[in-house]
Amino acid sequence: MQQAMQKKGAMNVAVFASGRGSNFQAILHAIDAGTVPAQIVVLISNSAHAGALETARGHGIPAMHMSEKQFINEQEFSNRLLAVLREHQVEAIALAGYLKRVPPQVIQQFRNRILNIHPALLPFFGGAGMYGHHVHEAVLASGMKVSGATVHLVNEDYDRGAILIQRTVEVAAGDSAESLAAKILKVEHEIFPIALKALAENRIKIEGNKAWITL
Ligand code: GRF
Repeated sequence: MQQAMQKKGAMNVAVFASGRGSNFQAILHAIDAGTVPAQIVVLISNSAHAGALETARGHGIPAMHMSEKQFINEQEFSNRLLAVLREHQVEAIALAGYLKRVPPQVIQQFRNRILNIHPALLPFFGGAGMYGHHVHEAVLASGMKVSGATVHLVNEDYDRGAILIQRTVEVAAGDSAESLAAKILKVEHEIFPIALKALAENRIKIEGNKAWITL
C-alpha cells in the first residue's frame, strides 16, 4: 500500500489497462517489494468494467475510466489525457493490457517513456488484430516451437517500437491458446517490472530503432 503517500525520488507512472490487470498487479507487487523505484500515480482504463480499476481503487490509486468514445474527437481525448497526466505529474506510462492506440500527441510528449507488454515474440505476431487469444492461435497455427513475451517502447508504429526485453516459453505438443497464454502470462509478470525498473533507473540506452537495458 505504498500509494497513500507519494515517494520522493520515485518515478511517477501512469498505468493504462483495458482488462483484468494482472500485469498491473505484478508491477504493484514489485513496487511494494521495493524492487522498482516508482509509484503508480494514476490508472486509466478505456473500459468501465476493467478489473484494473478495482485493483487501483483498492490500493488508493486514482482510477479513471477514460475512453475516446466520451469525446467528440481524438484531439479532445488526447488533450484531456495529457491534462490528466500533467495533473498527476506523470513521467512514464505502462501499457498493461491496453487494447487501444495511444494518441500520437501523447506518444510525442512521452517519447521513449511508454512501455508496452505484448504476449508474443515481436516483431512476429504483433500489429492490428493481434491481441488476446488471436496471438496464441496464430502462434499455434504457425507451428513455431517457442513463443514468449516482449516489453517494448511505444512509438507511432503499433507494436513496432524498440524491443527492450523478451523471454521465451516453449510451445509444447498439446498446447492450446489458453495453456500458452497462461505460460506466457507468468513470464510477462517477470519482465514488465524489470523493464519498468530499468526505465526508472535511467538504464535504457537507445540507438536508432533499437534499445538495450544496461546494467
Ligand atoms: C497480457 O497478455 C498482455 O501481454 C496483453 O494483454 C494481456 C493483459 O493481461 N497486452 P492483464 O490484464 O495484465 O492480466
